[in-house]
Amino acid sequence: MTVKLSVIYYSATGTVRGMAERLAAAAEQAGAEVRLRQVERQATGGEKAATDAQSAEAEAAQGAPGATADDVVWADAVLFGSPTRYGNIAGQLKIFLDSLGAQWAQGQLADKVYAGFTSSQTAHGGQETTLLALYNSIYHFGGIIVPPGYTAGLKFVDGNPYGVSHVTGANNDQPLGQAELDALDHLATRVVTIAGRLAGE
Ligand SMILES: Cc1cc2nc3c(=O)[nH]c(=O)nc-3n(C[C@H](O)[C@H](O)[C@H](O)COP(=O)(O)O)c2cc1C
Repeated sequence: MTVKLSVIYYSATGTVRGMAERLAAAAEQAGAEVRLRQVERQATGGEKAATDAQSAEAEAAQGAPGATADDVVWADAVLFGSPTRYGNIAGQLKIFLDSLGAQWAQGQLADKVYAGFTSSQTAHGGQETTLLALYNSIYHFGGIIVPPGYTAGLKFVDGNPYGVSHVTGANNDQPLGQAELDALDHLATRVVTIAGRLAGE
């Protein structure tokens, strides 16, 4: 059986988008059928300037298709990504999660593998709390959270057993480093492997 995996993210300034794209590529490499999706953008406050600076055309070229409930129901495994916002997930992703009530009520979100990824501006700015906040919803789904833990030596380098995270720095412009790229590849591969085992492969 080919594992079906959705990567669903929100990203205002592109960091989480880059992480999502890397995860999608690694999951494909691991043999999964992948959907890469973004939740609807609702620019507010400080993000507005960055958003306005980009043309609609460039925006469309960068963005994945919009996520729907079917992208979760369809999948054996789902990776959710969000920037850290006040130590929590972005409202845009929460709105998407909150839109899944009908699917939740029918048990269509349960028994899947889930994990999360995030980026923040500062090293102690709440990446772990963001991932734990995301996982609160996954418990209610009846999902099977598959964190990376320290299941490979490389996890002692990026250092986040809860998921994958990246620090963008004071100017919000630090690119993903090798430690984060390795951690993203590891998470995608691990999630595809565990989802495959659950499916009886
Ligand atoms: C409203 C708002 C709240 C934020 N809260 C935090 C925070 O709690 N901790 C932190 O380190 N960075 C915080 N940031 C910075 C973002 O997490 C950071 O820029 C992130 O890497 C952006 O990801 P993106 O490029 O995918 O949009 C916040 C940014 C905004 C706009």
